Amino acid sequence: MKNQPHGGKLVNCYGEKEECVKRRSIEIDTTALSDLKCLANGAFSPLDGFMSEIDYERVVLQMRLANGLVWPIPVTLPVSEQVAAEITKGEEVVLTYNQQAVGKIHVLERFQPDKQLEALMVYGTDDENHPGVKKLFNRGNVYLGGPVEVWRQPEWESEEAFCLEPRQTRQIFSEKGWKTIVGFQTRNPVHRAHEYIQKAALETVDGLLLHPLVGETKQDDIPADIRIKSYQVLLENYYPKDRVVLAGYPAAMRYAGPREAVFHALVRKNYGCTHFIVGRDHAGVGHYYGTYEAQQIFERFDPEEIGIAILKFEHSFYCYKCDGLVSIKTCPHTFEDRLILSGTKVREMLTNGQRPPKEFSRKEVIDVLMDGLKQQREAGN
Ligand code: ADX
Repeated sequence: MKNQPHGGKLVNCYGEKEECVKRRSIEIDTTALSDLKCLANGAFSPLDGFMSEIDYERVVLQMRLANGLVWPIPVTLPVSEQVAAEITKGEEVVLTYNQQAVGKIHVLERFQPDKQLEALMVYGTDDENHPGVKKLFNRGNVYLGGPVEVWRQPEWESEEAFCLEPRQTRQIFSEKGWKTIVGFQTRNPVHRAHEYIQKAALETVDGLLLHPLVGETKQDDIPADIRIKSYQVLLENYYPKDRVVLAGYPAAMRYAGPREAVFHALVRKNYGCTHFIVGRDHAGVGHYYGTYEAQQIFERFDPEEIGIAILKFEHSFYCYKCDGLVSIKTCPHTFEDRLILSGTKVREMLTNGQRPPKEFSRKEVIDVLMDGLKQQREAGN
């Protein structure tokens, strides 16, 4: 597979901050800010702004942009009806976050989405207990569409240093002489099952982009700052330095399971990856999606139009009889011989000061997680 950006070229929506005294402004939420950053740096190429109605509808119904390119997740700017009513088409509106101007949108369209339909099509459910659906329903009822320009903020500096842009990761891969690169999305600490599938993939490609999502996640996921330390300590101790790049992915998590797996893959193609790992229940939450639904969805597309090779992995775990990490494809033993802990169970253990077994997670990782969560509790978060 060639690692061309989706749609052919990387978009760049950064601009120089403008004087905006006379312009109307709207305050955006954390998800919109994450989307802006991904639009700006080209992670969401070929998108150069928030979706128009025609793109939005085709994405919701058919997982394609109006021009036919595969795109499974709406990237929209929701505002309240009241705010929308004040804006005229063609207007340039300043976008603020925490009252600071972070960019602008040239509003070409305002439209009313069918959120029920969006929930059912994109998330496969309209149950408000689903964190993605809940967020969808809680955001504004009118979407603004149009190209954006993003103005870098001094306080983004440290995040930007960690979240390399697609141009930067591509440059690094080329300097390292890597021809094949596997991308790994995660919103969790890297436990041994993750390590197992990453290293299995690394056996056949030149390099690994460990690419944790560091935008907004749900309340009970482990916060990104603690996770980052856990990735660093893991890489220091267990991975060859010259075969891995660790960088953050500034997007917000949607928990849209199968559709988000396709989205994650296309975005990693933009970062220069040639391969992408999709394991068990990728981007899933609760019991909304089947274990391998996020792998099966790729069968609905021609591999050429996805443009990044999907490496599908079975549910992996530690087996006491095999005395190693295996999957149902490679282990002949029974359920009782296997160490399988749910994410919820692990978080519960960590919060109660109980160490998950070393067969589940590396000692160094557990130390960082327990320490981080303890500090967080003491700080009253
Ligand atoms: S996700 O929401 O970012 O997908 P997570 O960080 O848990 O969640 O998963 C990262 C990747 O590892 C996903 O591709 C997921 O399918 C895969 N994965 C997680 N745990 C396992 C496991 N035990 N066996 C196989 N694949 C797994």
